[in-house]
Amino acid sequence: MYKEKLDLTRIPQHIAVIMDGNGRWAKERGMKRRDGHVAGTEALKNILKPVRDLGIKYLTVYAFSTENWNRPDEEVEALMALLYEKLDVNLFMENDVRFCVIGDVSRLPQHLQAVVNHCLETTANNTKGTLTVALSYSSKWELVEATKKIARRVQDGTLQVDDINESTIDESLNTSFLPDPDLLIRTGGEYRLSNFLLWQCAYTELYFCDTYWPDFDEEELCKAIWNYQQRERRFGKTSEQVIGTTEQ
Ligand code: IPE
Ligand code: IPE
Ligand code: MG
Repeated sequence: MYKEKLDLTRIPQHIAVIMDGNGRWAKERGMKRRDGHVAGTEALKNILKPVRDLGIKYLTVYAFSTENWNRPDEEVEALMALLYEKLDVNLFMENDVRFCVIGDVSRLPQHLQAVVNHCLETTANNTKGTLTVALSYSSKWELVEATKKIARRVQDGTLQVDDINESTIDESLNTSFLPDPDLLIRTGGEYRLSNFLLWQCAYTELYFCDTYWPDFDEEELCKAIWNYQQRERRFGKTSEQVIGTTEQ
């Protein structure tokens, strides 16, 4: 049991997850891709409580990318219908979790936007943790939007070009309310970021596992965190410097 091995004083504050492998999970079982997505939503529901109980403050999950709009219409429609059906405000209220969204929400069907807004408003004051769902999200889209925002501020004279720094960009991103992820988990066996949080993951520890998302559970989560805890985050410094800082 990896849970017993964890150092509870060094739990990552923010975990980002690329929930991949729903389709292959279904295919291996002779099921439809949609069934894999249904199982995937269950896996997400089930992980919320362990995340909260471990004291992870922020969980950010990649549910639908900008590029996923290019999937067959049937799958896109099934995913939108599923999100509408499964997005349950009670689940967030029960867990005292705040629900947030990043991505181009305006591309979502109107009725889904309404549920998203309802969840955002209702859960705004919840305090145990923040679940951020990336919907119609891609990092390059987000960076383009941030660039436009900054350019407009320069254009209207409220920002000088020489005053642009890393914080200006941080504040202009969809993720302005989040700290950078400490750990990024990708399930499903692929070793890539697929346009997810490219700026924010500059110093994030990356963890890849073969497990398909529908099979990802508390034990898998604890294994990822345990793996993270074996690493030394140096942020460009030497190991001696890092050890010196923690000993002081
Ligand atoms: C991830 O599972 C969920 C979404 C991208 C919506 P996939 O649907 O990508 O599953 P695989 O990668 O085809 O197995
Ligand atoms: C990334 O998975 C997006 C989500 C998990 C929502 P994909 O399955 O779309 O990624 P690629 O196409 O394999 O890179
Ligand atoms: Mg995939």
